[in-house]
Amino acid sequence: MTAILAIETSCDETSAAVVVDGCDARSNVISSQIDVHARYGGVVPEVASREHVLRIGPVVGEALDAAGMGWADLDAVAVTSGPGLAGALLVGVNAAKGIAAARGLPLVGVNHLEGHVYANWLNAEPPPFPFVCLIASGGHTDLVLMRGHGAYEMLGRTRDDASGEAFDKAARILGLGYPGGPVIQRTAEGADAPHKLPRAWLRGSHDFSFSGLKTAALHMAQDLGLYPPPALNGDGAEDDPGREAEVANVAAGFQEAVVDVLVEKTVAAAESAGAAAIALAGGVAANKPLRERLAARSTVPVHIPPPVLCTDNAAMIAAAAFFNLGDGGPSRRSGPDGWERAMALDVSPGLSLA
Ligand code: KG4
Ligand code: ZN
Repeated sequence: MTAILAIETSCDETSAAVVVDGCDARSNVISSQIDVHARYGGVVPEVASREHVLRIGPVVGEALDAAGMGWADLDAVAVTSGPGLAGALLVGVNAAKGIAAARGLPLVGVNHLEGHVYANWLNAEPPPFPFVCLIASGGHTDLVLMRGHGAYEMLGRTRDDASGEAFDKAARILGLGYPGGPVIQRTAEGADAPHKLPRAWLRGSHDFSFSGLKTAALHMAQDLGLYPPPALNGDGAEDDPGREAEVANVAAGFQEAVVDVLVEKTVAAAESAGAAAIALAGGVAANKPLRERLAARSTVPVHIPPPVLCTDNAAMIAAAAFFNLGDGGPSRRSGPDGWERAMALDVSPGLSLA
């Protein structure tokens, strides 16, 4: 039995988890900073770092308590070392180094994107190799072919905005707040006649593009008199039912366009790669229409973690660490046998997967 304590602080969630043998999540404590950042309309890096500093100690303690474990039960410490916000990552990496040094435990630096993929191993039947994974988050939209543990081949990626970023920007245009994904999904449920928005197919490539869609949504909002939203122009028209109905129709049209492209391009990539399965990962994978449409459209089995494991959490970091211990892949191991290496672990804000 291998128990790994993992820490995740790459963006605006302070999280710690204890996972046994890479798939049995005994605890997964997530302290979200959404309320703190919402008033600014997005994540403020300096504020995120300070919040992580305040929260990391209690969150780690809570993760051990919830797992019913003590320091002596741990076999390794894993931590997200990138990609993410430099100052935010530094808090987690230094906390993990401290614990590893104090307890004489190996330290594993984990690629955050690899963590998202490994959420598919937690408390569920993992996808069979080779599979195609769509990693759709606030910072990334990647289509990756995974042939084995730690073996990634990049099939396609966004050429401009990430899909989660597009959700966040569309929500901002419509005056819906932050984070955009969940609120667009909720708002779209009230649509009676979704507006049609364009899709960028980039035929012949597995790449994505979402910036044109964002601009089209802005122009549509302007034409419909929805932009700038009341909160920005200060005319206090928040409770206008006509406005609410139109906002819902733009939100629904926007979501349909994103989901359409993500589903069709993921299915096409899986077919051309001869994949045995499709996996979803990253915050946007929490999107209900995306989950339903992909499952309905694919001819190979579709694996999707529950929504709480799609958005940022530490359990996925522990899973990635377990399956890549010592193989020198994107996530790197060091330990009592290599203290210099462990203490030299640095943050890599721009790290990629392949
Ligand atoms: O993976 P994640 O938690 O953090 C990053 O690594 O970026 O992803 C956050 C992103 C945000 O852009 C958020 O709007 C989006 O995931 N998201 C969603 C949903 N829940 C979160 N997008 C669409 N539908 C959702 N239900
Ligand atoms: Zn993430």
